[in-house]
Amino acid sequence: MPTQLVTTAAELREASARLLVQKAGSSQGLVPTMGALHEGHARLARTAVEQNDVVVASIFVNPLQFGDTVDLDRYPRMLDADLALLEEQGVDLVFAPPVEEVYPGGEPLVRVTAGSLGEKWEGASRPGHFDGALTVVAKLLHYGIPGSGLPATGAFVSGRGGGLPAYRAYFGQKDAQQLALVRRMVSDLNFPVEIVAVPTVRSADGLALSSRNRFLSAEEREAALVLSRALRLLAERATAHQPLDLESAQAMVESQPLVGLDYFDVVDPRTLEPLAENCRKVPFRGEGLAIIAAKVGPVRLIDNVPLSS
Ligand code: PAF
Repeated sequence: MPTQLVTTAAELREASARLLVQKAGSSQGLVPTMGALHEGHARLARTAVEQNDVVVASIFVNPLQFGDTVDLDRYPRMLDADLALLEEQGVDLVFAPPVEEVYPGGEPLVRVTAGSLGEKWEGASRPGHFDGALTVVAKLLHYGIPGSGLPATGAFVSGRGGGLPAYRAYFGQKDAQQLALVRRMVSDLNFPVEIVAVPTVRSADGLALSSRNRFLSAEEREAALVLSRALRLLAERATAHQPLDLESAQAMVESQPLVGLDYFDVVDPRTLEPLAENCRKVPFRGEGLAIIAAKVGPVRLIDNVPLSS
């Protein structure tokens, strides 16, 4: 079935409810994006298609999560290419609303606040970013609730076994802090959705895919590889039960003149609190997340790898 494009919440509710009935579906997946899609997004969409009967992807460049309007204006917009990529993955519906549909009265008065978890790491250099991102994610998760467009003639009865359809939303592990915050919002505020984390997709040379990579020159792109190399080194040390020796990995990144390191640390994947200092001096045990952010030329890049021993 070709992918259908809708631009209003009413159309989305109607079309997704119709599809659930047509397919006698019992599950719906939502893939929130800001467009400028690459293979990382394709993997999110494919995972959603594998796990759900109906899949909605949203494309919305959310002004609330941009600190300055230059960044917002510069954000690449390429709806036709994005639609083609989503159609190839088997996405049923694309919700691409204009700003006035999402924020009809201008910027919302009441918002979600990310709290202390939103102030560290990425939040420290992008004040307000996570409040803006969580506010739109809350709205998108509500727009995507399955079955809400059916006539109010009684409880939704799905094709297989009855009951409410399952609802899942898909986020990339690449944005580890966003993922941790979305999980926290869903649990703290009782959103009726399961959050599914999808692993980062990398180019063959290790660079994590990002919509921002297109702004790197060839030389900067080469220099940026030190980020994934340093993370891989830590992951290998963790797996080999060696001390992580973060300092030596950090020195490796800092020796690259085109890379301005912002942070590089090992944290708890849920709270993003740094793991105890002794994790680095003694053989690593348990679970952790190595996180890194750096400016490479004009571009701020982030990456992370799970550590497990
Ligand atoms: O990760 C993104 O692309 C955005 O932050 C999201 C989740 C679509 C909210 O605007």
